[in-house]
Amino acid sequence: EKEGFACFMEKEIFEQPESIARTLSGRLDLEYATGKLGGLNMTSRELLAVKRIKIVAAGTSWHAGLVGAYLIETLARIPASAELSSELRYRNSVVEPDTIYFAVTQSGETADTLYAMRELKRKGARVLGICNVVGSTIARESDGGVYTHAGPEIAVASTKAFTSQLAVFYVFALLMARMRDMSVSAGQRFVKELQGIPEKVREVLKQRDHIQALAKKYYKARDFLFLGRGLEYPVALEGALKLKEISYIHAEGYSAGEIKHGPIALVNEETPSVFLVPRDYLREKVISNMKEIKARKGPIIALCTEGDAEVAAIADDIIPVPAVDELFYPFILIIPLQLFAYFCALELGRDVDQPRNLAKSVTVE
Ligand code: M6R
Repeated sequence: EKEGFACFMEKEIFEQPESIARTLSGRLDLEYATGKLGGLNMTSRELLAVKRIKIVAAGTSWHAGLVGAYLIETLARIPASAELSSELRYRNSVVEPDTIYFAVTQSGETADTLYAMRELKRKGARVLGICNVVGSTIARESDGGVYTHAGPEIAVASTKAFTSQLAVFYVFALLMARMRDMSVSAGQRFVKELQGIPEKVREVLKQRDHIQALAKKYYKARDFLFLGRGLEYPVALEGALKLKEISYIHAEGYSAGEIKHGPIALVNEETPSVFLVPRDYLREKVISNMKEIKARKGPIIALCTEGDAEVAAIADDIIPVPAVDELFYPFILIIPLQLFAYFCALELGRDVDQPRNLAKSVTVE
């Protein structure tokens, strides 16, 4: 039940410190500084032979896959990419023997992802599942995989399933990296940082009232841009999707580096941009993208690391988040975006848990 929250989405947003901890539970080994994912049904030798990783998914799960691919390639030095299942299914994709696939899905019943998986399996691919619903069709038909253990997700808009999918990818990337490039000490730092994420998420959730006030200030806008780069690019896509789904406000997620190639034409006094600009190696680049928007009088809400005075000076409003290692910001930055979408929907009197035209699991093509 809703346990005192106004709706399931709110409850599920606030559950994330616990749901992420559940996903990680028993899967991190501090002594050997690695991840443990027995359900993959693959020996270390088989994992070592993997040359490429491809991820298929839809919607929010695809966004988690984009983060996962980036992380795996960065840490484990294995080429990795994420593709929409609805696209992969109908193209004649090449399956190579040393490639493994992940089908990522909360429900485990999404038709596009299921049929993509069946197509891949027919071609001889090894397809692993990252599923939340135990015993779901994709979980049953996959060659192995990982349950996210986020607990039941009732609201149509996916929130805790997303952060749990991220957590699985962080564990998997660690496991693969430690078999290749990553030292024990770097691995231990990574494990500690990952174990600390639930607590950081709890801290971010304390900004509830501040984010609600921002929603009250901005919810009348007709269009929003959500902008980030690197690992924060998929987070921008996810923030835009959340706002669209439940508030019906038009929002576009873009790479901040891409705005000058078209979307900047949309910017005026009435089109706010939400920037993801944590302290990472792309911060300077994103700051210059913020200045481009500012020069065109676009209002800016910036999600930045606490104490970042330079960003605060450019933005109209900021949502400060605690500092984490730069690879871990997706966990921390998606939380304010979920809350922002939720509070905008509330202001507009929308049915948050059951938005129009949408179903929790999309079992038709
Ligand atoms: O159950 P799945 O993760 O396979 O669902 C995929 C998408 O349908 C889903 O993420 C959808 O985009 C959500 N409504 C997003 O909030």
